[in-house]
Amino acid sequence: MSDINKVMVVGGGGQMGNGIAQVAATAGLEVTLVDLAQDDLDRGVRRIEKSLERMVRAGKLGDADAKEARDRITTSTDLESTARETDHAIETIVEDVDIKREVFRRMDSVARPEVILASNTSQFAISRIASATGRADRVIGTHWFNPPPVMNLIEVIRGVETSDETVAATLALAERYGKETIVCQKDTQGFLTSRLIMSFIVEAMRIVEEGIASPDDVNRACKLAFNHAMGPLETADLGGLDTFVKAAAAMTEHYGDRFRATQGLRALVNAGHYGYKTGRGFSDYGDAR
Ligand SMILES: NC(=O)c1ccc[n+]([C@@H]2O[C@H](COP(=O)([O-])OP(=O)(O)OC[C@H]3O[C@@H](n4cnc5c(N)ncnc54)[C@H](O)[C@@H]3O)[C@@H](O)[C@H]2O)c1
Repeated sequence: MSDINKVMVVGGGGQMGNGIAQVAATAGLEVTLVDLAQDDLDRGVRRIEKSLERMVRAGKLGDADAKEARDRITTSTDLESTARETDHAIETIVEDVDIKREVFRRMDSVARPEVILASNTSQFAISRIASATGRADRVIGTHWFNPPPVMNLIEVIRGVETSDETVAATLALAERYGKETIVCQKDTQGFLTSRLIMSFIVEAMRIVEEGIASPDDVNRACKLAFNHAMGPLETADLGGLDTFVKAAAAMTEHYGDRFRATQGLRALVNAGHYGYKTGRGFSDYGDAR
């Protein structure tokens, strides 16, 4: 594997992409954000600038370091010409496996043979994405958490063909980013983290529906007893209950009833109560949004 100095972030205008780009640029790499339109890219860059300013104000980053990080970021709407020049690619586009496969096929057709192509998918099999390329041994999952500059973990997912060299190079890159890693050794639905948090959330929903405790008490129990930063029902409300129902259906298909969406969750979603974004879910958010 060659040295990695230039990174491309595909979907760099989006929520995860601009956060990942910020981390890479702060770590000293040259970063190109790639997105569909210049407006998306401008939005991504603005978010990075604001986030760097916040870090400077909080004393987490020096003024000069923030400026240097910003200067390492460029933008492009041309996937192929960027992929031709890059040393490493991370894909952070919409969660649609066919669109991801097409992006990987295009990058694979022009990137240097040794370049590793990584995906930030939260659920799809890495091998399904990798099989759209001619370099399945150099395709890997790197699942970041939101927001990337703040959250310390990268979950690394090995596809069926991913080589040991690719895993080693990915772990080394994560170390340069200053992140901790875990490796999911089998390419399974929901990997490790989504599987854990979803089983926990579904159990919390069952406890509420069995009348054992209120949503607020379930959330408080997890924060106070387990030191969780957020309760499980707050996590579901924040991520969106509509999204959760879809993710639960995909997990149920693979693992059976233990991930099945509860009737209470379905009732909230049927009524249009999707959580934080609509103002109501397991809790009421009203004007707090
Ligand atoms: N949001 C989260 O909390 C979170 C956490 C972990 C992983 N993920 C995963 O990260 C990925 C991105 O999620 P997000 O929330 O940042 O999405 P987002 O919608 O905020 O951003 C996606 C970006 O990709 C761009 N895009 C779409 N198709 C493209 C293409 N063909 N070429 C180039 N750019 C394209 C869009 O214009 C958009 O700017 C998804 O796979 C998601 O599952 C999200």
